[in-house]
Amino acid sequence: MKILVLGSGAREHAIITSLLSEGASHEIVAAPGNAGIARAVRTVDLEPTDPIAVTEYAVENGFELVVVGPEAPLIAGVADPLRERGIPVFGPSKAAAALEGSKTFAKRIMEAADVPTGRAELAGTIAEVEKTIDEFGSPYVIKADGLAAGKGVIVTPDRAAAVAHAAYWLEHGPVLVEEFLSGPEVSLFLFSDGHDVLPLTPAQDFKRLEDGDLGPNTGGMGAYSPLPWLPESFVDEVIETIALPTVRRLEKEGTPFIGLLYCGLIVTPRGIRVIEFNARFGDPETQVVLARLVTPLSSLLLASANGTLSTLPRPEFALDVAVTVVIASEGYPEKSITGRQITGIEAAEAVAEVTVLHAATEIAPLTDAVDAGTWTSTGLVATGGRVLSVVALGSDFAEARARVYEAVDKIGLAGSQHRTDIAAAV
Ligand code: AMP
Ligand code: GLY
Repeated sequence: MKILVLGSGAREHAIITSLLSEGASHEIVAAPGNAGIARAVRTVDLEPTDPIAVTEYAVENGFELVVVGPEAPLIAGVADPLRERGIPVFGPSKAAAALEGSKTFAKRIMEAADVPTGRAELAGTIAEVEKTIDEFGSPYVIKADGLAAGKGVIVTPDRAAAVAHAAYWLEHGPVLVEEFLSGPEVSLFLFSDGHDVLPLTPAQDFKRLEDGDLGPNTGGMGAYSPLPWLPESFVDEVIETIALPTVRRLEKEGTPFIGLLYCGLIVTPRGIRVIEFNARFGDPETQVVLARLVTPLSSLLLASANGTLSTLPRPEFALDVAVTVVIASEGYPEKSITGRQITGIEAAEAVAEVTVLHAATEIAPLTDAVDAGTWTSTGLVATGGRVLSVVALGSDFAEARARVYEAVDKIGLAGSQHRTDIAAAV
């Protein structure tokens, strides 16, 4: 199949790695990709958030499937003109992507579909915020309504900090005050064709920068899968009480959700609750979920895009466990220092069952060398916050962790940060 993958992160590298592992003779192109992706497939310099440019390129080059990785192109509406031109797209329309793009929209859909989530009130003024946080009590949860690159949510017992966060985001629009939910978090991804869903396997993400869940929130510093501590009925319960009602509600409203339904869940003493929906694969959870996927990914993506998921059995996963550790630049998430040289990738990949997925890398021309004193012939440099996602499989978590950290230790990037406790407590 001729497949165009939009995006440039480790999630997209994982999707491409999974597609290549099928052994089918897919012709894959990534736009824009990164240095690691460019080593695996052809990359093109195309802006994923430009729906017209993407559609023209996909039509002219006869792509049979477009897979949209990140949220920004979906919110920009890239799926709509592609679908209008008859190209199968894995990724929801602009209208359905509001499930991720607007927390207010998501709350309305959940209410209409009777999906369990935290109680929430929309507030347009500081007075409304203060009234609601005092009603809900501490710890306080305030969320910006739109996409905020992981910076929109605060969870704090500090009332003044909660009010200050609300004041900042109120300048951009109303904020959501939410009831605090307590319990372990789970990410469950489901393929959706607009009517039916098929589940992937649960994963857990580590959102805080530092060990012990300290430090600021990030896009995700690591993940593992499966979650042996979940009850066996978990996936079925999420399908019945959360995923299907949500997908059917969107279908009924004339905005079918075709793509990846990311259920961000919290397992509270009172049951499973939705913290958030996303409209695309999670990063870094995808790196561990797809590492364990046995079923050919392309068949699931295409059946979602074509509305034929009901003809497929549930995806199968290896019994092996998977752990990923993210290597981030100095300064991430506040202000990442970029341009620094990366070494040791080959040595890391030589560790058994290890894959190094690239997130923010490029081959810089020699003249662009920043650390001129330490320049080597590889020319691989970091271009952003989360730089690499090192993934290891193992027969148990002790083995997968030993492998992943052996590989992480072989990678050189001055000032880099990573957590040392990913999957340590499983
Ligand atoms: P979100 O951007 O909605 O995923 O929120 C970011 C993080 O904030 C989540 O992963 C949770 O750790 C935390 N969080 C969000 N909503 C709540 C809530 N209602 N109660 C407790 N923690 C929350
Ligand atoms: N890992 C969190 C996300 O992808 O939104």
